[in-house]
Order: sequence, then structure tokens, then C-alpha cells
Amino acid sequence: MSNIIVSPSILSADFANLGRDLKELQNNGADWIHVDVMDGHFVPNITIGAPVVKAIKPYSNVPLDVHLMIENPQNYIEDFVKAGADIITFHYEAAGDLTEDIINNIKSHDILVGLSIKPATPPQEILKYLIMVDMVLVMTVEPGFGGQSFMRDCADKIPVIRQNAPENLIVQVDGGINDQTAKICKELGANSLVAGSYIFKSTDMEEAILSLK
Ligand code: DX5
Ligand code: ZN
Repeated sequence: MSNIIVSPSILSADFANLGRDLKELQNNGADWIHVDVMDGHFVPNITIGAPVVKAIKPYSNVPLDVHLMIENPQNYIEDFVKAGADIITFHYEAAGDLTEDIINNIKSHDILVGLSIKPATPPQEILKYLIMVDMVLVMTVEPGFGGQSFMRDCADKIPVIRQNAPENLIVQVDGGINDQTAKICKELGANSLVAGSYIFKSTDMEEAILSLK
């Protein structure tokens, strides 16, 4: 069995039937479930918040991988912890000087912490945080919407992060991931893949998840 963590994004799910779609993801081999939280400020789109995370939590045993694309993430960590997040990833661009404090806050709740960078952010800016986090999320599209095309250049950040990270760091990619782009990212050192449209548009969800592994 491969050690790739596949985290299907429910941004491409049916929002009127999230509970049903979570069960389906679990039954078809999802390792984690990726929840995209957008505030209309950090990114030009609004999706869901902590109340929805809380509502869907009982529908699966799969860890909830919450990707915060919001400004002032420091103000919302407790809400998402209480709602049942198992992994919280926030953006370095939104946190700035508060990055270390937010990492420590998330860790204090005994859940996993991820740090994400947008396409324009060089990986060098976050190297000092690699020993503090469980995961780095390299965005391979401009965050905000599902269904965009993979930005190949962004994947070149993966080896830079790998070379400077402790062995157990999870390197996740998100945006435009399908079986082909997943292969590129895995070869460069990624071990967690987020995919929304590829999984939800497939005719066989189990096969689509397996094809990413
Ligand atoms: C984009 C989100 C992604 C999105 C990926 O801002 O962070 O998680 O759902 O969608 P696809 O896989 O369709 O590119
Ligand atoms: Zn995401």
C-alpha cells in the first residue's frame, strides 16, 4: 500500500448533501477529507465556516483536514478545533509575524498543524518554520476556486522544502491535481495530495482516489 495521503476536497461536493458525500469519500478510500474555508477577503470567494465543519463531523471517521484561506486566522483556531478539525492549515501570507504563535496555538490542542504558501510566495520564506509544523501545503493554483489548472512552476518548491525539512514532514499539494499532475508532485517529494474536481467528476471515485496513490 502506498504511503500517499489522499485528501479529497469537498469544495467539489454537493453542498446540500455534504453528509452523504463524506460517507461516500470514506467508503471509497479517502485518507483525510479536505475542507476549504474561504472568507471573501484573503481569497475572492466565500465558502463555509466552523458551524459546517461541526455539522459534518459525525458523518465520517476520516480526519478533517481544514484549509483556512482567511485573514486573521489567529482569531478562529479555537472555533475550528471545537468543531472537530484534526488538521488545521493556515496561510503564511495571512499570518505574517504571528506565524509562530499560531503554530503553537494549534499544536497546544493536540492536532496537526500545516502552513501553506500561495503561488507567489518563495519557499525560502518559510524554511525556519519547517521544524515546528507537521505539514506544509504548497498551493499549485491561486487559492479561491476549484477546477483550475495546475501551475507546474509551483511544484518546484516541493524539493526545496523537502531538502530543508525533517524527514517526517508531510508535504501536501493542492490545486489542479489529477493522476498526471499527482505523479509530478510525488516524484518531486510530495506525500499528500488534495483533489476536488478530479475526484468528484470521476465516474468511479474509488478508482480516482487509488489513481493518485
Ligand atoms: C482552492 C482549494 C482547493 C480546491 C482544489 O483554493 O484550496 O482545495 O478545492 O480543487 P481542484 O482539485 O478542483 O483544483
Ligand atoms: Zn484547499
